[in-house]
Amino acid sequence: MAFDLEWVRSRLPGRPIHWHTAIESTMPEASRLAAAGCQSGTIVGSEEQTAGQGRYGRAWHSEHGSGLYVSIVLRHKFVPATLPLVTLALGLATSEAILKVTDISCDLRWPNDVLLQSRKCAGILAQLEGSAIIAGIGINVNHSAFPEELSGIATSLRLATHRIHSREQLLVELAAGVDRFCALLEKEGGEPILAMFSQASSFVHGRRVSVDQGHSMVQGTTAGLNSSGFLILQGDDGTKKVIFTGGVRPCS
Ligand code: BTN
Repeated sequence: MAFDLEWVRSRLPGRPIHWHTAIESTMPEASRLAAAGCQSGTIVGSEEQTAGQGRYGRAWHSEHGSGLYVSIVLRHKFVPATLPLVTLALGLATSEAILKVTDISCDLRWPNDVLLQSRKCAGILAQLEGSAIIAGIGINVNHSAFPEELSGIATSLRLATHRIHSREQLLVELAAGVDRFCALLEKEGGEPILAMFSQASSFVHGRRVSVDQGHSMVQGTTAGLNSSGFLILQGDDGTKKVIFTGGVRPCS
């Protein structure tokens, strides 16, 4: 179904929304607008991305008309070191928008995966553009299938619920939630975000995981988040290590 941009605009008055039929990726377009001085909250979205970007240089599958693919320009008084906390806040906003619109609760896998039935239904990519943050959020909404290489690890809200969901309502809730969680982070610092993420995620405490760090794999049991939003992993010898980056997977 075609995206009803006018309905979204009527619910987000005053917010610039740049909507595309197809684009390589919303990320560079949002960066370009941010560099040109666009206002905070500006949204770049597209029905389809022909070169959607995931973390670690991976591609983000962005089938036409099925998902929500947006980048939101954020201008807050965050320093660059806050980026990991912003990523957690964006995960909370995404999961909350999904709950409000579809009534389904997602799990959050540090740092940026939103999971349903242990498969990824949304992902987040936060990048700096000067003093602005570009919050890239992709939600698999109404996909009825995924390419074979993703079928075991990805899902959509439709596949999980057997219902079609409104991408427009999701965007309205997402935009409001991103504003609210970022304002909270700006006003009260990382603590409430860390507490909410820890509460919402089954991966933060006591989970046996392996972490793919590109050059090596580490295994251990998760032992919370540090004050900067990084994951703490306790090795089998009891020593604790801070995980700054890497793909976290449960050990079976
Ligand atoms: C990840 O989990 O690897 C991050 C995925 C981020 C995907 C979104 S879709 C909208 C925005 N544009 C992109 O090219 N990527 C982000």
